[in-house]
This record gives sequence, C-alpha cells and structure tokens, in this order.
Amino acid sequence: MSQPLFRTPRGTNDVLPEDHQYHTYIKKAVRHRARQAGFKRIDPPMYENRAVFERGIGEHTDIVEKELFLVSSKQASDESTQFALRPEFTAGICRAYVEHGMQQLPQPVQLFSIGQCFRHDRPQKGRYRQFHQFDFEIIGLKDPSLDAQLIQVTAKILEDLRIRHRLTLQINNVGNSDNRTEFCQALKDFFIGKERNLPELDQHRLQHNPLRLLDSKEEDTQILLKNAPKLEQFVDDESRIYHETVLEYLDTLGISYVKNEGLVRGLDYYNQTVFEFWDNSTGAQNAVGGGGRYDSLIELFGGQSTPGLGVACGMERIIWHMKEAGIQAPNKDQVDVFVAQLGPEAKKTCLKLITDLRDAGIHTVGALGEASLKSQMRLADKFQARYTLLLGKMEVKESTIILRDMVAGKQKQIPFKDTLKTVKKLLGEKNLDTYSLTDHLGNVIDEGE
Ligand code: HAM
Repeated sequence: MSQPLFRTPRGTNDVLPEDHQYHTYIKKAVRHRARQAGFKRIDPPMYENRAVFERGIGEHTDIVEKELFLVSSKQASDESTQFALRPEFTAGICRAYVEHGMQQLPQPVQLFSIGQCFRHDRPQKGRYRQFHQFDFEIIGLKDPSLDAQLIQVTAKILEDLRIRHRLTLQINNVGNSDNRTEFCQALKDFFIGKERNLPELDQHRLQHNPLRLLDSKEEDTQILLKNAPKLEQFVDDESRIYHETVLEYLDTLGISYVKNEGLVRGLDYYNQTVFEFWDNSTGAQNAVGGGGRYDSLIELFGGQSTPGLGVACGMERIIWHMKEAGIQAPNKDQVDVFVAQLGPEAKKTCLKLITDLRDAGIHTVGALGEASLKSQMRLADKFQARYTLLLGKMEVKESTIILRDMVAGKQKQIPFKDTLKTVKKLLGEKNLDTYSLTDHLGNVIDEGE
C-alpha cells in the first residue's frame, strides 16, 4: 500500500461516493418538501464580510468568538481578515433579503439552502469543521402558525428519512429581548459573590453572555443554577400566549414535543420560539437540527423591522442516524451493463454501442483497455454489472453479440441490431435513467432519449 502524502485537514471529510448516495437522498427529500410548502432556493456565498456573522450571530457566541474561519488571500493583505467562511446560513440569507430588496416581495419570503458550513470547533463525533446543513427561513410575517408549519416541514423531512422516531422535539420560548436583558441582569446579580465557584469558561460567559450559562455542561454551574432565577419568570405575557398558541398548533398537526424551559440555543439572534431535535439517547449533545424566531435580525442588516423564523439540520448527523437505523440510501450509481470487447473492430463498434446504451438511460461502462475477455469479465463482476455484452472478432463478423446475465450466470447470442431493444426490455422501461424537463403543468419541454 502506498502512503498518502496528504490527508484531509482535521475535522473535514471527503464525501465519498457511498456517502453521496445519502446526501443525494436527503437533498431530494429537502427539495421535495420545500417546494410543497412554497420555499425557494437561495445560495448565499460561502464567505461573507465577517461583520455579517459577528453582528448577526453575536460577538460573544462560541461560533463567533472561537469558531469563525477567517478568509485570507496572498494579495489583499489588509482585506484579508475582513471575510469569514459561513458558519451557518441565516445571517447570510438575512443580509441577502435586505440587499435584494426582498421586502418588496409578497411576504413572507420563504427560502431554503443546502450546502457546506464551517466552524473551527474541536473535532469529535458528529462535530466537524466542515459540515453540511439544510436550512429553511420564513421572513416578513409573524404568526404562530408559521412556527408550527416550519417545525412540521422539518419533521416531515425527518420522517421521510425514517429517523424522526429516534429524535425528540424540544421547544421553548425565550421571550423578547427586554425579557432576556432583565433575566441576564438578574443572573449576574445572583452570581455576585459566587463567581469564583464557576469554572473559568462560565465566568467569561457570565460577564459577556449570561444566557449561555443555562446550557453549560459544568456540574458546578448546574448546581448553582438550581437556585438561580429562571428565564420563564421574566418572559412577558405576549410571548407566553404566543408560545401556547404554537404548542396548540403543534397538537393540531399531531407533532409531539417536550417543553424544555432550559433550552436557549447558542446563537444570539433568537427571540420567543426556539426548538431543537434531540437524539433520544444522548439529548442536547449532537442535536440533529434546531432553529427559532429572530425578529430583530433584518434590522441589524439595515432593513426595516421585519420578523423572521428558521431552522437548520446537520446532514452528517442525519446520515449517522440513518446508518444507525439501518436505512440504506438508494444506490443510483449501479452499473447496468458492462461492455467487453476484443479486437480493434469490436472496440470501435462498442464505442458507438456504449453511447447508444447511455443515451437510452442505461448505466454503461466498457471498452476499457485491451485485456483478455476473461479478465474483462472479472472486471464486470467486480463492478457488479447486471448484464455484460461481449463482442469478439467472431461476433463482429456475424453481426451478433453475446448477452450475459451476471446474476443467473447464463448467456445467449443475439443479433447485434437488437441489443438496445433487448437490454431495455430486460431492465424495464421504468428503471431507465432518462430525464425530461417539464413545465409545472407536466408538459415536456425537452426530453432525454
Ligand atoms: P445550529 O444549531 O448552530 O443552528 O446548527 C444547526 C445544526 O447544524 C445542528 O443541529 C447540527 O446538526 C449541525 N451542526 C452544527 N455545527 C456542526 C458541526 N460542527 N458539525 C456537524 N454538524 C453541525 C444554526 O445554524 C441556525 N442557523 C439555525 C437557524 C436557521 N435558526 C434560524 N434559522
């Protein structure tokens, strides 16, 4: 075995073909459910002015304080620290909403995105430096039914992927920003004289972002928090009623949830509704998805006061659950036909045949090298081809071809001109990988052969 000179950077992964089957499957479910619910796709750039994330997500969140990847270039020395790789989609999408004047569109504007995000986190199981999210945002209208609908779309996707039963929806309402300011002050007051009992990280949190203390993993902090003021004591009536209505709508939609008064989320932009999908067995660690309402974010990017709401799920964590649950993503990369040939004439004839087979929607490989028919057959076996077509000098002369069923281990000679028709029939018309472009009424605009 040769030794690689380079490996992927720590916390990143090659998405190998086996995993792409899962990615493709998830994306299909996401696109399908998104269109059903009126979401349109947007792709913000992979990097933005770092201020987009610093302002949006919050200066004193872990994501901004510790995990931003700054983008530098060899040339632009003073610009080099202005940009950062996106750690999530929400801030970029809100920036785009304002930049493209989307407040002029009928509201709410519903957008979704799928792609890589980057966080310089400490790599561990389910936590990577480059990972994939799918993300949904509803901007421009506020109503508890939208919160419930967004959760429903997410739950549907998780159901489609057959992992919903492994997850629990945790939900809370963190009130408005005044409620949280008052609560944070109360927490600070409570900890006066007790700071020294807090681990160093939590002392820092108490100073800069006391809300983050609530999901501290430190035992000492958790013990102290038992007697501390509770966020729900500060949540105003409007938020309380809003929350009850969201829960009522979830009940109506038959979506089960756990009310979790300790749930605050790690990003600063949230107000009122917050939620996460937790792994039934490990809880808060490695949540599969999360989101909530952000009614002040658009203003931070220079827009008018505009409500917003969104969710994002981590695709690597979803894939992990699918594999744990024994769910195999459909393999769309199967080889239907391997074409083996011998001799220059046969090879030429095969090239044309391979093109015709591919155009007919049949996954075909072949005309590889000059090896003997026997070793080409071995290769066909390794590629797990369903059928092999063999064309030697004799067959070219006789205008025939040998068709071998690789599963049954049987073969027969057929007229060369019937090859396409016979293979199509064997595979079944509906299994052919053709595509067609149709308009929304189903009229074919352009059809693959
Ligand atoms: P988040 O909770 O930071 O929320 O991330 C959402 C999901 O992304 C997580 O539940 C997890 O599955 C995945 N994820 C996050 N960090 C990593 C990582 N280092 N490695 C692997 N997966 C990870 C947001 O990003 C918000 N933008 C969600 C949102 C949308 N809120 C409103 N709109």
